[in-house]
Amino acid sequence: MVHKRVRTAVFPVAGLGTRFLPATKAMPKEMLTVVDRPLIQYAVDEAREAGIEHFVFVTGRNKGVIEDHFDRQFELETTLEARGKVEALAELRMDLPSAGRTSFTRQQEPLGLGHAVWCARDIVGDQPFALLLPDMLFRSEPGVLKQMIETYEETGGNLVAVEEVPPEDVSSYGIVARGEGPDEGFRITQMVEKPKPEDAPSNLIISGRYILQPEIFNLLAEQTKGAGGEIQLTDAMQTLMRSQTFIGVKYRGQSFDCGAKIGFLTANVVYALDREDIRDGFLAELHKLGVGREIN
Ligand code: UTP
Repeated sequence: MVHKRVRTAVFPVAGLGTRFLPATKAMPKEMLTVVDRPLIQYAVDEAREAGIEHFVFVTGRNKGVIEDHFDRQFELETTLEARGKVEALAELRMDLPSAGRTSFTRQQEPLGLGHAVWCARDIVGDQPFALLLPDMLFRSEPGVLKQMIETYEETGGNLVAVEEVPPEDVSSYGIVARGEGPDEGFRITQMVEKPKPEDAPSNLIISGRYILQPEIFNLLAEQTKGAGGEIQLTDAMQTLMRSQTFIGVKYRGQSFDCGAKIGFLTANVVYALDREDIRDGFLAELHKLGVGREIN
């Protein structure tokens, strides 16, 4: 069966980023850099690799800089050109989605992820869409969204990327219960937001990548505040599960929760060591400090 293609991705970037204050007081969390690329750029790159054509950003206060990041900077480009910095210029241009392929809408108040997604309803319209939380960074080949699209082409429905965490950590996340099917696509039989470890149906967490059907918007419209006083996406997904299929994709790869300091710092070290142009110099500096001698 042919399923309606996923052409649009939504990036909610209107959160307060309180775990990163004061860095995020005037700057959005999604512009924090892992090595030399902002988190939001990694998420957009992942979406492009998966065939996404339309990029919808749900922004909030202080987020104008994200709009600027995905715009051309003629002054900068002219200067780079004049200085013969051809590679930097080519890279800047490559990072941009094509003209007319980005949309920005505002979540005037950070009422929760569910509310942020709902703010994209008119732009997305009546079609399935991908949802990427840019503070979750994935090191995988191919990207996690591409892995999910491959499954979606077989299964259709709603998809959620999942990964395992130690059982004692489940209360920080949305958790799914696993039904029949392989790692690349199994039936989800239950979902619960931030359960107590003793109530959790598994240790599989919802990890920041989704493919959703547009019916989710109607449910989000009716949503009242859930865990943490926020309008929770998981609550709306639970309701949608009564009438539609939800598939879990246990993706191949590693994740870094860059909304938290440890995840962000770890990502910077790992991504720096992945980079041929940085690795040796970075290691040499660490070794001088007596750190990381076992890495070479
Ligand atoms: P988080 O809960 O990780 O982000 O939301 P946060 O609220 O900004 O961070 P802390 O907990 O205060 O440190 C995951 C994603 O959802 C977006 C965030 O911007 C982030 O990309 N989000 C969250 C919104 O767009 N609006 C909201 O009301 C809440």
